[in-house]
Amino acid sequence: MQTDKSITQRLCDAKIRNNLPTNECGKLSTNNLHNPDMKTYILSIESSCDDTSAAILEDNKILANIIANQDVHKRYGGVVPELASRAHQQNIIPVVDAALKTAGIDKAKLNAVAFTRGPGLLGSLLVGTSFAKAFALGLNIPLIEVDHLQAHILAHFIQNADENIIIPSLPFLCLTVSGGHTQITLVKDYLEMDIIGKTIDDAAGEAFDKAAKIMGLTYPGGPVIDKLAKDGNPDRFSFPKPKIKGLDFSFSGLKTSFLYFVRDNLKKNPDFIEQNKYDLAASIQKTIVEILIDKLATAAEQTGVKDVAIAGGVSANSLVRTRLTEEGEKRGWNVFIPDFQFTTDNAAMIGIVGYFKYLKGEFTDQGAVPYARSSIK
Ligand code: KG4
Ligand code: ZN
Repeated sequence: MQTDKSITQRLCDAKIRNNLPTNECGKLSTNNLHNPDMKTYILSIESSCDDTSAAILEDNKILANIIANQDVHKRYGGVVPELASRAHQQNIIPVVDAALKTAGIDKAKLNAVAFTRGPGLLGSLLVGTSFAKAFALGLNIPLIEVDHLQAHILAHFIQNADENIIIPSLPFLCLTVSGGHTQITLVKDYLEMDIIGKTIDDAAGEAFDKAAKIMGLTYPGGPVIDKLAKDGNPDRFSFPKPKIKGLDFSFSGLKTSFLYFVRDNLKKNPDFIEQNKYDLAASIQKTIVEILIDKLATAAEQTGVKDVAIAGGVSANSLVRTRLTEEGEKRGWNVFIPDFQFTTDNAAMIGIVGYFKYLKGEFTDQGAVPYARSSIK
């Protein structure tokens, strides 16, 4: 395992090593790119789904990470894309303003603007993308596009205030589990990763959210299931696990079997959900988490990699966190579990990718448009 000292050293090395990479945006102000003694300040924007977030990073250290959640979707039981983009439009300026104020820096000090280009909801992404482009253009500084899933993974490298961080050694495995994605990634370098397993249908977060919806719980359902499960018996009900070859996942069959199970029991007893909500939550949670941990263990065996991380909204789940820790102890893994603030969507994780790309001089053209599907294969 390495400490924050080694990451700082490695980042400084990267600055020196890069010795001004060819810069497509030659006229932009990138004056500190070769100077390891100068700090880099990045404004980052995240707007891929229903959270509007802006962060300021000083190198890899977080100075501000502001998130505006959108309550408007709660009554619909899921994110309504049109409402999400409208809310982003209302939130983006106050959120960026709050980030700059919290960080205590003037925008003139910024070296680059990083933004989530995809994957996500196109209307939502368009708000963040357009704002980032205009901001970078106005300040005459580089624009840096970031892949949302790469950002969830690299959140492990964010230095939080003055706390020391312990970071994974390269290469490491990361199980990224969010509302839209479930993947196992082999991270070979900060910006070089291979997806070695992914869901062939629903994501793990979707499985939590759909199970919650079937039980009449509020959106997002994952945290609600997690809370109810604490008082339930995880072995009370059993649900079938998918038999998918290799490292891929599937959750749609589980969702259907949960739906039929609840529906059949409601026919016999209209109070079935209310009377069994704790056990239902604990049992479905256990099944989802077992599917995830089993595949991760197979990936670790196949690759021989011992540094194993989790990322994404579902990595906030208490059972995922304890099961990963237990499995790590059993199998001799170095386990990396993100701070709660970096599990769900946030702009600090966009900023850290922005920082790594800034060091390599990987900038984005003003013509960039959002993409709905992931750019990493
Ligand atoms: O990463 P994220 O914030 O957004 C996407 O990129 O999709 O993940 C959101 C997902 C939702 O499905 C939500 O239900 C799930 O993360 N989630 C949880 C927990 N907290 C959030 N799932 C299970 N247990 C939790 N504690
Ligand atoms: Zn996400």
